[in-house]
Amino acid sequence: MQITELLKGLNIPVGERFVSVTPKEAKFMHHWVKDHGLTRTLEIGLAFGASACCILSAHSGRHTCIDPFQKDQWRDIGLANLASLGFDDRVDFHADFSHAVLPRLLAEKREYDFAFIDGNHLYDGIFIDFYYVDKLLCHHGFVLFHDSWLRGTQLVASFIKRNRKDYRPIRCPMPNLILFQKIGVDQRAWDHFREFYTWKNIFYHRLVSLYPVSVKNYLSKK
Ligand SMILES: C[S@@+](CC[C@H](N)C(=O)[O-])C[C@H]1O[C@@H](n2cnc3c(N)ncnc32)[C@H](O)[C@@H]1O
Repeated sequence: MQITELLKGLNIPVGERFVSVTPKEAKFMHHWVKDHGLTRTLEIGLAFGASACCILSAHSGRHTCIDPFQKDQWRDIGLANLASLGFDDRVDFHADFSHAVLPRLLAEKREYDFAFIDGNHLYDGIFIDFYYVDKLLCHHGFVLFHDSWLRGTQLVASFIKRNRKDYRPIRCPMPNLILFQKIGVDQRAWDHFREFYTWKNIFYHRLVSLYPVSVKNYLSKK
């Protein structure tokens, strides 16, 4: 089934579609997972299950997803969407906060090929998610961040680029996604630190925030 058709078949209430990845992003994720043969996948932030469905349709392995608000905020629609496509028996769903679930997955010695971070969008939330995802990713695994327009996401990406030589940034054709591949072992000295709050990214963010129209144009290219 084509990704656009699959997405059209999902129950996503009108007026809440902005919550999910766009069809172009979904297509990109699906092909990335499929083309790289990634079968152990993890996602933080299920909502209506759009990204989960495009990941699950790309492989035949298991998909772990985490969302503390699936029942109350999203009326269990995400889980129902996964079930309607017959994916439910390949899903390990955790109805809890990622900061509680990720350490448990680590204690269980889980390993993933691909992780999608789209949960708590505050800087510290994204950072904590990356901290654990890094420990759960296999060698050559990928981590994908949604909402690159957010300052919090940009700062976490800037931290990785400047401090984590064991990650390779991958040029991503989707402007609202940021992709990295784990290519080595973290060998930082105990006191290592490189500034990642740079003038360049502060300036860029201020510029974009000053011109909301340009943000819309930027995002409409998705
Ligand atoms: C933008 S939505 C995710 C959309 C989904 N990835 C998609 O494209 O279909 C963000 C989700 O993160 C969840 N969330 C918020 N805080 C979280 C946390 N601390 N841990 C895990 N999920 C969280 C919300 O309940 C919401 O479902």
